[in-house]
Amino acid sequence: MLPPADSLAPEWLRVPEDANDLAPGVWPASARRDDTGQLRIGGIAAADLVHAHGSPLLVLDEDEVRTRARAFRDAFAAATAEHGGTSRVYYAGKAFLSTAVARWVTEEGLNVDVCTRGELEVALAAGVAPGRIGFHGNNKSVSELERAVEVGVGTIIVDSLIEIERLAAITARTGAVQSILIRVNSGVHAETHDFLATAHEDQKFGFSFADAEGAVSRIRELDGLRLIGLHCHIGSQIFGVGGFRESAARVLELHERLCQGGELPLLNLGGGFGIAYTRVDDPTPIELLASEIVDAVAAGCAVRGIPLPELAFEPGRAIVGTAGVTLYEIGTTKDVTLDAGSRRYLSVDGGMSDNARPALYGAQYSARLASRAGSGEPVLVRVVGKHCESGDIVVDHEYLPEDAGPGDLLAVPATGAYCASLSSNYNHVPRPAVVAVSGGAATVIVRGETIDDLLARDAGIAGARAADTGAVRLAEGER
Ligand code: LLP
Repeated sequence: MLPPADSLAPEWLRVPEDANDLAPGVWPASARRDDTGQLRIGGIAAADLVHAHGSPLLVLDEDEVRTRARAFRDAFAAATAEHGGTSRVYYAGKAFLSTAVARWVTEEGLNVDVCTRGELEVALAAGVAPGRIGFHGNNKSVSELERAVEVGVGTIIVDSLIEIERLAAITARTGAVQSILIRVNSGVHAETHDFLATAHEDQKFGFSFADAEGAVSRIRELDGLRLIGLHCHIGSQIFGVGGFRESAARVLELHERLCQGGELPLLNLGGGFGIAYTRVDDPTPIELLASEIVDAVAAGCAVRGIPLPELAFEPGRAIVGTAGVTLYEIGTTKDVTLDAGSRRYLSVDGGMSDNARPALYGAQYSARLASRAGSGEPVLVRVVGKHCESGDIVVDHEYLPEDAGPGDLLAVPATGAYCASLSSNYNHVPRPAVVAVSGGAATVIVRGETIDDLLARDAGIAGARAADTGAVRLAEGER
């Protein structure tokens, strides 16, 4: 018999039969408990990973990233081939970018989407062929654009009239011809947290349909710019295909009109495919997503009597999200007496500096003991970080074994996307290392920060050190 649900638990969270189980779809495929009950990822025990690389630690399962990258590539290739078409998939680097990840995804046949000079430089340093890079952003500076054109970035996704003029000047000066897409708003509101929806009319990204035609006319006057298509992204962490299909249908209408003034061989429908953060999330399988979206676009083209353009997609979270597991050490526990009962708080050695998503979006996560299987009845807990802020929540609601406590390692799955990339040094907490695991081997792909890294940027400390050195030199000179 399961114990009754805690009255403080939200309705969606059910009491698990086994509070040590690993919910399918939430963890990387390699995650399992060994004979001792310890969690292993990529064949390596959690405690060994923390022993070697410290805690907190972001563990990224390389095989999971590669498998998902291949799945996206293959699913969209198969779905477009059904209609005699082709596709390309860009990995949205904002989800998490390092040279290792850029190499894995490009080796699996993906392209890379970047949205700042920093992301561009990481992709280039990884050896990504510039032609396979798409460059996004609503405020690309002149120097960012110069760099992108100079290295030969494959496509620049243009977001404003000012950017068009900047590119016109750069290409006129260098003689380059730059392929571009223009980003438009389909007006479709993705069913997701409001902050994440990016296709509302009244927001900063892209051109409204009303403004797009003027922008395209201007682009077509310019010798240095080659407009190859439209781009649209409707939001993030989206389940189902309805929003994508509706958005595609609207964009096709504009695409058809613009095709009258010249060919548009590519149509980029963006990213935003949702993943499971907890066992109640039910993302659409990639193959189904791909076929339903592509079938809808192909049908729309057929009705309009226009050829199916090459289709591009930009998943970020759906490639790396599930591959990441953050390991923390539990430091303290506390039962807080409330009017409605009592809530157990478990404090870990990281928090909103390594995962800002609960604080930013009210994102829900799950957790399991990692260094051992626990025992006792499942107890409702709230996992919190070590920051000086009451919103510093890591996992809002979870049932864990009753004996989970100080010294135990805790694993939070589905932290591969938008955790390291949104991380901060709040409260001067150093950012954790990122370690890739595969086939029983672990490789540091981003080293952890040290206290020295934090102090190095403080000009007062750096100044004091320089002054010390100066004083020594002076003393030597006097002698
Ligand atoms: N393409 C464009 C143009 C985008 O703006 C984004 C995400 C993506 C692709 C990739 O979306 P994905 O497949 O990863 O959902 N920080 C938020 C998410 C912000 C997404 C911004 N743009 C979060 O943590 O949920």
